[in-house]
Amino acid sequence: MSEKLWNSSQLRRYDLDLEQIPRLHYTDPKVDELISQNKPVLITGSNIINTATNVWTPEYLEENLGNAGHTVFLSKNHKFKYFDESKMLSRSNPMGIEFIPPTRKTRMKVGEFMKKLREWKPGNERLYLQQPLNNTIGPQLVRDFLHFDWDYLNSKQEKHKWGELTSNLLLISQEGNVTPCHYDEQQNFFGQLYGYKRCILFPPSDFECLYPHPVHHPHDRQSMVDFDNPDHVRFPKFKNAKGFETVVEPGDVLYIPIYWWHHVESLMRGGPTVSVNFWYKGGSTPFNQQYPLKDYQKISIMRNVEKMLLGVLQDPKEVGPLLRSMVLGRYTD
Ligand code: SIN
Ligand code: FE
Repeated sequence: MSEKLWNSSQLRRYDLDLEQIPRLHYTDPKVDELISQNKPVLITGSNIINTATNVWTPEYLEENLGNAGHTVFLSKNHKFKYFDESKMLSRSNPMGIEFIPPTRKTRMKVGEFMKKLREWKPGNERLYLQQPLNNTIGPQLVRDFLHFDWDYLNSKQEKHKWGELTSNLLLISQEGNVTPCHYDEQQNFFGQLYGYKRCILFPPSDFECLYPHPVHHPHDRQSMVDFDNPDHVRFPKFKNAKGFETVVEPGDVLYIPIYWWHHVESLMRGGPTVSVNFWYKGGSTPFNQQYPLKDYQKISIMRNVEKMLLGVLQDPKEVGPLLRSMVLGRYTD
């Protein structure tokens, strides 16, 4: 491991029970063991993102990202809780949920974004650029990207029977920004390129401790619990959540298994950070499915049940009461 260039005073404080995620050299056979068990692992020493590690600095990206507009979120506080616009109430979506977005989504050229970062002062809105890498990126970044260790990536994809690589998201964050706890429906290799991020993960079995918003809510897949100020009356099982954490440094690749919860924070007073995500579809259900089903497979089932109920009831407000009358006293003790 390289010299530690951060200290614990740069981590936000949460009242959580946390254990360290294993850090393993990419040649260690235990890496594959953990991936095959859908358990997180921090992969060190690899060449996966070598051509961008400490190369894709904010200055280099300003020069080479290209002149197209990029998606930037603006937040009045340090939290950037994701929301799905397609689930918001609108004229074209009368079944949507009435909702005031917690952040503002806008488009900016990278130069404008970097200028705002440089000139930022307390009281200003915080900024977070989150842009899928696409055909608008400049030729130097394309070259760097093509020289990622695709042999290694493809071998993991094949060995663990993941589906296709769907996208690479580039994240340029201001120091101290937080992506609150959520899960994704894809396998993720999270590559850290510049600066330091702390990642806190929870297994899919902590579903009941983390209280996800309903599937039809714009905050679908996001925990309702505010880690800064947890409401233990509304969310009594939150105290039972058992997390796994690590701080990723440039060159590290963190495997975030499909349906695993994750909270990600750029360290405070650590300067901007740059990361790139590799999202892969999950594998298809094997012919010889093993029972009982895995926790993450059950989450997929619950999502489908919620979607089906909304489809037949045609009103999000009716889903909860139906589920309650189906379960209370019959499937509860
Ligand atoms: C982040 O890096 O802020 C979030 C990444 C993710 O949720 O996959
Ligand atoms: Fe995520």
